[in-house]
Amino acid sequence: MRLFIARVSVLLLVLGFSCITSELVDKFSKCGDLFYHQTPPDIPGILKDSAAQHSNYKLICQQYESSIKYATLYDTTQKIPLFSAYKYTRIQEYKEVTKIPWMIESKLEPVGPEIREPFVHQAITGDYTNPHANDRQVSPGHLFPVRYAADRDTAKSTFTLTNSIPQKRNLETGIWIRKEQDIKDMMDKYCRDQKNNNKILAYVLTGALPGNNNLNNRVNIPSHKWMAFCCFNSSGNSMLSRADWAENKIDEDVVTRPKSLQELQTFLNERWRKQVKVFYKDCM
Ligand SMILES: *[C@@H]1O[C@H](CO)[C@@H](O)[C@H](O)[C@H]1NC(C)=O
Repeated sequence: MRLFIARVSVLLLVLGFSCITSELVDKFSKCGDLFYHQTPPDIPGILKDSAAQHSNYKLICQQYESSIKYATLYDTTQKIPLFSAYKYTRIQEYKEVTKIPWMIESKLEPVGPEIREPFVHQAITGDYTNPHANDRQVSPGHLFPVRYAADRDTAKSTFTLTNSIPQKRNLETGIWIRKEQDIKDMMDKYCRDQKNNNKILAYVLTGALPGNNNLNNRVNIPSHKWMAFCCFNSSGNSMLSRADWAENKIDEDVVTRPKSLQELQTFLNERWRKQVKVFYKDCM
C-alpha cells in the first residue's frame, strides 16, 4: 500500500495536474435549475429526495469561471460519476474546443503545493497513464459531452475527471457518438422551452452503470453508459422523453434507434438491482 501511494504521488509531481473548484452540496437544488421539475433521479441507497444516502456519494455543482454549468453525482469509492445532469439548449457560440487537459476536483480532497495525501477520493490522469494499470484499453470519456455544451466555458467545464469514466473504444469513437447524434437531432427538432417556443430546451442525464472491473486497481470501469432526456414537444403540446444505452466494450454494436424512458428504467432496474426513478413522474 505504501509503495502504491508513493507511486501515485511521484506520478502527480511528474505529470502535474490542473484543478477545478466546484461546490459540494447537500441538495442538488443548490446547483440551480438543472433537473426536470427540480427533481433529481431516485436511486435506492444512493440518492433520495435529492440527498446522498451515504457519505461516499458527493453532490457536485460543477462550476467553471464562477458559474455553475451542470451537476454530477460522484461515487468516491468507485471513483466514477454515476450521472451528470445538464440542460441542452443548442446555443453553440464556439468552434470545436480542442482537447484541454483533464482537471481534477480540489474540493474532494486537500491538495496544495505540498501534496501529502494520495488522491483517494477521485480518479486522476495517472490512473489512465500508469504503466502498471491492468487495463490500458480505456481512456477518459465525458458524461456531459463537449458537443452538447452551449458555450465555450461550458465546453471547457466538461473536462473534469469527475465528469468522466474509463471508456473503451466503442464508446469513445464509435457507437456512442452516433447515439448522441440521434438524441441531439431529436432534441433539436422537437424540444422547446414551454415559456419560449423559439428556444430549444431539454433536461438531460448521462449516467454510468458500475461494472466488475477496475482500472489501475482504483477506478471502476462501468459496464454501460446510459442517457435520457425529458422535454416539452411543442409540435405535440406534450411531454417527450427518449433514452439510450450502450455496453462499454471494445467491439462495436449494431446501431439501434433510441429507446423509451420505460425501457431504460427496466434495463437499469434489472442490471443494478435497484428501482431507479429517472425523471419526475416519468416525464409524463
Ligand atoms: C412531437 O409531437 C408531434 C405532434 O404530435 C409528433 O408528430 C411527433 O412525433 C412528436 N415527436 C416525437 C419525437 O415523438
